[in-house]
Amino acid sequence: MRLTACARNYTLPPDWSKNPKVSGFFGEHFMGRFAKVLQSSIGAKVAMAVTGILLVLFIIAHMLGNLLMFAGPEATNAYAKGLKDLGALLWVARIGLLVVFLVHIGSALRLWRMNQAARPQAYAVSESTMVTYAGRSIVLTGLLVLAFAAYHLLHFTLFATNPEFAQLHDAQGRHDVYRMVVLGFGNTAVSGVYLVSMILLGLHLSHGVTSLFQSLGINNPSYNPLIKRLGPWSGVIVAVGFMAIPLAVLAGVLK
Ligand code: HEM
Repeated sequence: MRLTACARNYTLPPDWSKNPKVSGFFGEHFMGRFAKVLQSSIGAKVAMAVTGILLVLFIIAHMLGNLLMFAGPEATNAYAKGLKDLGALLWVARIGLLVVFLVHIGSALRLWRMNQAARPQAYAVSESTMVTYAGRSIVLTGLLVLAFAAYHLLHFTLFATNPEFAQLHDAQGRHDVYRMVVLGFGNTAVSGVYLVSMILLGLHLSHGVTSLFQSLGINNPSYNPLIKRLGPWSGVIVAVGFMAIPLAVLAGVLK
C-alpha cells in the first residue's frame, strides 16, 4: 500500500537525467556500459580504427585486383565477371562496405565535434587540439578521398560520367573492364584526378594506419618503431600500386 502511494506521488524532476545519482542508475541499466563506451571519444576512436582496418583490407584487395590489368584483358575481365557472378553475396559485401564507410565517417564527425566542444577558445587555431588524429591533414585528406570515391563510383561503376562504358563488351560477351579502364585513363585530366587522389589516399593512410594502433591501445616500446613505419609504408605501397595503372595507360604500356 505504502509503496503504491509512494509511486503514485512520486514525479521525476524535469531534469532528472542530469542528476548524476539518477543518471548513473538509469544510464547503467538502460543504456548499458557498452553504449556509453561507444558514445565516448574512446568508443569513437575504436570504431574508427576497426572500420579503418576493414577499409584498408578492401583497398589492398581492390588494388591487387586492379593490378590484374598488367596480366591483360582476359585476366581483368574474367576477374570482374567472377565478382559479378557472386550475385547476392556481392550485394552483401557492397552493403557491408557502405556501412563500414559510413561508421568510419560518422565516428570522424563525432570526434571532430567532441574536439570542437573541448576547445578552450573557439578561435585558438595555432595549436591543433585534435585528440585523436595525428594531424589536421588527416581530416582534409579524408574529405578529399571521400569526394574521389563519389567521383570514382560515378565513373567506373555507375557510368554516369561516361554512359558509353556500359556498352563495352569483349568477344565472350563480358563487360570489357580492361578497355573501360584504358579508355578512361586515356583522358589526361581524368588520369590527373586519379593520380592526385591516390597521393591523398596515401597521405591519409600514412597518418591513419599509424594512429589506429594508438586508438586500439597497441603500444609497446619494442613494436612502436615498426608501427610508426607501417603507416608511411602502407601509404606508399597503396599510392604506388594504384597510380601504376593510369601511369601505365598514359605511357602506352597498357593499351
Ligand atoms: C587507379 C585506381 C583505381 C582503379 C583503376 C579502379 C578501378 C575500378 C573499377 C574498374 C571498378 C568497377 C569494377 C567493375 O564494375 O567490375 C571499381 C569499383 C570500385 N572502386 Fe575502384 N579503382 C581505383 C581506385 C579505387 C580506390 C582508391 C578506391 C577506394 C578509396 C576504390 C573503390 C572502389 C569501389 C568502392 C568500387 C565499387 C565496387 C563495387 O562495384 O562493388 N577504387 N574500381
